[in-house]
Formats: sequence, structure tokens, C-alpha cells
Amino acid sequence: MTNSRIAGLGYYVPENIVTNDDLAKNMDTSDEWIQERTGIKERRYATKHKETTTTMAKKAAEIAIERAGITNEDVDFIIFATLSPDYYFPGCGVLLQRELGITKTEIGALDIRNQCSGFIYGLSVADQFIKSGMYKNILLVGSEMHSMGLDYKTSGRNVTVIFGDGAGAVLLQPTQEEKKGILTTHLHSNGIFAEELALISPGTHGGYHDKEDLVDFGFPDPSEHGGIFATQTMLDDGLMFPNMNGKLVFKNAVVKFAQVINEALTKTGLSKEDISMLVPHQANLRISQFIQKTFGLRDDQVFNNIQKYGNTTAASIPIALTEAWEQGKVNEGDLVCLAAFGSGFTWGSALIRW
Ligand code: UT7
Repeated sequence: MTNSRIAGLGYYVPENIVTNDDLAKNMDTSDEWIQERTGIKERRYATKHKETTTTMAKKAAEIAIERAGITNEDVDFIIFATLSPDYYFPGCGVLLQRELGITKTEIGALDIRNQCSGFIYGLSVADQFIKSGMYKNILLVGSEMHSMGLDYKTSGRNVTVIFGDGAGAVLLQPTQEEKKGILTTHLHSNGIFAEELALISPGTHGGYHDKEDLVDFGFPDPSEHGGIFATQTMLDDGLMFPNMNGKLVFKNAVVKFAQVINEALTKTGLSKEDISMLVPHQANLRISQFIQKTFGLRDDQVFNNIQKYGNTTAASIPIALTEAWEQGKVNEGDLVCLAAFGSGFTWGSALIRW
């Protein structure tokens, strides 16, 4: 039986540190409020016009590829998870392929849009491709440049203070070693909650506009046939910024994190006592602490770095996993549990025998 294993991993965060006090210069918030509710002390922002979601991904990917002991040309498939792409389309997968200089091989590149659980979704897809024998060197990246599209006024404070920029990558390869590598993955969603954490404009939904307000794209009658992709109202009402029902997200997150971790343990016949290291999506330190308590894990069994980087959505798990590994906290034979919950709502888990 072939399993997939993480053969190399890497991360990149921009140099520019933005503290809670920096944010408080533009909006009504405070270091005390942010730390108390989220645990976040600071986050990184990419340098605009110099860095993008893809350029950060490239830096993380190169480290992962090198650590796997292969070259860029050996990568035979790319999976890219992000909610903050360089372009509306095409997705970042092909841009990363170009940045890595591996266009000659014309390998496939897949874009994943599952927000905070994008990395787990990508891991699950990669795992199936490797198990089936289709690919042997899959590059999976989560990268986000939130800073390019946040509301820095008080109106956006409940969302903006949480997010940060960064990228993480893993290189997945097959292993024949029994009970090693990715043991199981579990994916879930519930679209009933789609708008509870969302950036809904611009888009094809067509709501939120007055006839006079329509941008004229040349349609005969835009109110009937289109021309509603972008409107002044969308800008005025802040609909081009992410919106979040924080309390609802929090309440669902703590329940679903626990459920999906238990699902993975049950599937593999393992128990919470077997977990060596839990690397949760870095959504909010209070959520991670809640999960830690639920499973009775010690501090050294849960890895958190949200204090330094904020919530980097699809990048948060690979960044945290890489840091944990670099610090010697993930070792051969360890049972590593990954879990995420976020916009969609979508959530998932993975168990990896390192
Ligand atoms: O990874 C994606 C998934 N996202 C998450 O997992 C986030 C989950 N949710 C959360 O982490 C929390 O809901 C937040 C940290 C976002 C917010 O904490 P909360 O305790 O749920 O606050 P709230 O939104 O209910 O707001 C409470 C008060 C409100 O003021 P009033 O109406 O009571 O006067 C907010 O306006 O706190 C206010 N508030 C702030 N005050 C200072 C909201 N954001 C801020 C802020 N600074 N940044």
C-alpha cells in the first residue's frame, strides 16, 4: 500500500512587522483588546508592488523542494490554496509554475479555494493522486496576501486585526513504509453559512446595486443582463472587504475542530493519547486553547504561532508545521494531527505518522 509523506517543507513570511499598536493608529482598537480576544501580538505584511501571493509562495516552495532533495523540474503537479490570489483568474498555480521556471514540463497546476481549510483540502487531493500512482512529487502551497484587501478603518476592525500575510509549502512523495505518512484525511463543508465569513464582491451574485449605480460594461440593459460585477455601492458599503460573523464562526469552529479530529482518530483506531503534536489552523489562539483543553493535551503537544503571524488562512498550517519541525518538535515516528475550520464553512483534518 502506497502512502504519501511530507518529504520537504518550508515557509516564508514578509519582513515587515505590523504590531497591534500600528493598527490602532488608523482604527479604534487596542493592543489589549486584540491580545485578549485573539492572542495576536503582531503580523507580517508583504511589500506592495514588490511581493505577491505567488512570489511568497515561490520562496516557501523552493525551501520545501530543496529539503525534499529534488529540483524544481522534478515536481510533477502543483496544488495552490489561497483566497487572496494575484489575479481573479488565472489562479496562482500557473503563476507559481512560471515563477519556479518549470513551464517546459507543462505539468498540471490546480487551484484550491477553501480558505482556512485550503491546505487540508489540498493535502487530501495530493494524497489521493499519490496513492493512485498518478504523481510522485506534488508541490502543495498555501499562500496569502491579506494585507492587499482589508478595511483599515474602524468598520473593518473585527476582521482586519486577525489577518496576516505569509506562505507555507510541502513536497509530497510516495512511501512504501507501512503505517507511515498521511494516514487519513477528512473533509467537510456546510454552505448554509457561506455568507457568515465572506468577501462577496465583486462577483456574479448581482445583488447590492441600484440601477443608477451600475458600471457600464456595454450591456444593452445591465440591470437585466449583467454589468453588475463591480458597482459604486459595493465600494461605498465596504462589500469588497471580507465580512465575518465572528461569534458564530468561533462557536462553530470549536465544535467542528473537535468533531473532525475525533473522526480521524476513530478512522485510524488511534486515541487522543496517541497525538504527539496538534498543529491547528491558526484562527484564534482562544480556539486553539479550547481544542487543547477538549483533548487534554499538554502545551508541548500543541503548536501555535498566531502570536507572531496572525491568521494566514491557507498558509497557517504549513507555516506552523514547518516552524514546529525546524524547532525539533516534530520527529520521526510522531503522530501529527492537522485540523482547520473556516469560511464556507469548510473544515477538515489529517493524521500523519512522521
Ligand atoms: O480563520 C478564519 C476563521 N475565523 C475565526 O476563526 C474567527 C473566529 N472569531 C473570533 O476570533 C472572534 O469572534 C473575534 C476575535 C473576531 C471577535 O471577538 P468577539 O469576542 O467575538 O467580539 P465581537 O465581534 O462579538 O465584538 C464584541 C465587541 C463589539 O463592540 P460592541 O458592539 O460590544 O460595542 C465590537 O464592535 O468588540 C468590538 N470589536 C472590537 N473592539 C476593539 C470588534 N473588533 C474589535 C477590535 N478592537 N479589533
